[in-house]
Amino acid sequence: MIQGANLSAATAAFQRCISPDCGATYGVDEARVACQRCGNLLDVEYDWNRLPVPRSLAEFERKWAGRDDPHSFSGVWRFHELLPFAPLPQCVTVGEGQTLLHPSEGVARYVGLAPGRLHLQYEGLNPSGSFKDNGMSAAFTHARCVGATRAACASTGNTSASLAIYCSVTRLMKAVIFIGSGKISYGKLSQALDYGALTVQIQGDFDDAMARVQEVSKQLGIYLVNSVNPFRLEGQKTIMYRVLEGLGWEVPDWIVVPGGNLGNSSAFGKAFHELHKLGLIPRIPRLAIINAAGANTLNELVEKRGLRWNDGRPNMEIASGYYQQMDAQRRRASTIASAIEINRPVNLTKCIRAIQWCNGLVREATDQEILDAKAQVGAGGLGCEPASAASVAGVKKLVAEGVIGRDQQVVCILTGHQLKDPTATVAYHSADPQQFQEVLGSRGVRSAAFANRAVAVPNDLDAIIGAIQTARDEG
Ligand code: F0G
Repeated sequence: MIQGANLSAATAAFQRCISPDCGATYGVDEARVACQRCGNLLDVEYDWNRLPVPRSLAEFERKWAGRDDPHSFSGVWRFHELLPFAPLPQCVTVGEGQTLLHPSEGVARYVGLAPGRLHLQYEGLNPSGSFKDNGMSAAFTHARCVGATRAACASTGNTSASLAIYCSVTRLMKAVIFIGSGKISYGKLSQALDYGALTVQIQGDFDDAMARVQEVSKQLGIYLVNSVNPFRLEGQKTIMYRVLEGLGWEVPDWIVVPGGNLGNSSAFGKAFHELHKLGLIPRIPRLAIINAAGANTLNELVEKRGLRWNDGRPNMEIASGYYQQMDAQRRRASTIASAIEINRPVNLTKCIRAIQWCNGLVREATDQEILDAKAQVGAGGLGCEPASAASVAGVKKLVAEGVIGRDQQVVCILTGHQLKDPTATVAYHSADPQQFQEVLGSRGVRSAAFANRAVAVPNDLDAIIGAIQTARDEG
């Protein structure tokens, strides 16, 4: 077992502050979530000259032949050469990353793209039902290498489910989870409880929980696995490798992803930046990040107030001024897409860097648009939770604006499984106006154009047969 300082010696990896004006470096044996010198976020970097970089991405397909080895089976560690911060035998896997890239004709039609031009990347097929497992396998690996015995996170539900499953399956660590009160869907809460995590429900929302977990983990020396942890994002890069693999190593025109704490968008930007630098892809796709309209910090800062990475010298006063305004007006994020109900995204600076690297942009989608898009995804495929459908709603908007061309190749990342949040889904499809109103009315959702209502019938054979025939005739 490699531990502590030996980890740095065993790899060509190190941590570096993302600010070019600082650039402080740290060993990979250190567990940090910010630069000690200037407080900025950290990257995991590699001395590629000392590493065996594959000559082409297609070389990764060879690993399929050895998939009885858990590290080749893992959709994260299959790409170990592109995130080699720990020796492979130390890398923790619970079978993450067995996800699918599906073409969807129905959703392509809905958003206005030509047939064959829209693909959905189903990250809900991960063991805990969301994309988080990609990052958790990496953060958990690092936690184990630095000898952690407890790991903590704040969560809108998916990070906590993921941490809990890694703890319960591997028994390597104990999970401590912080959630806001009344802010987490039952599907996700049930996972944390069922997998035996210590679950701390604090009065407040995700941002409150996020602030507290940072304080608590510092004070008690608990390893933090939120996406401020740079190793988490190394795992999430592999979502993009699998998208490329699904497209036969062709680079799409657009990657479209929901934006919450902005870990995914940051990781995707880094993945493409590195692949391009290593000569493994000829060009970088454009990145569109979609906020919920009720949690639209990124859209406000980037699209309305002009916040830019500026080669590492962003004007962060734009963000601090916005946050001050938000607090003065007591404005808090509110959306049916509870996974992305976030006021102050912790990866903001890395995300605007990704926007620069990927010629990216930001849009927002209302809860109505999100739920309509979600119903289209469900009707034409494996389904997703509300936050994930923001990506599809965003593409519809961008096609209507003429920003995305009808014939461009677009990939939407469906970040979480359909079963994560049944409340929103059932309310949308409900024939009971009261249930619809209770769950969705307060969020400005007025209609359910794609509702598939249950047919209520008496317990009578003739009535049941009659109802089925009527439905068939109408269908
Ligand atoms: N989609 C889902 C299903 C999520 O759970 C999250 C984030 C996001 C999108 C946003 O991703 O933060 O990388 O921009 N969920 C976090 C959690 C915050 O605690 O589970 P991001």
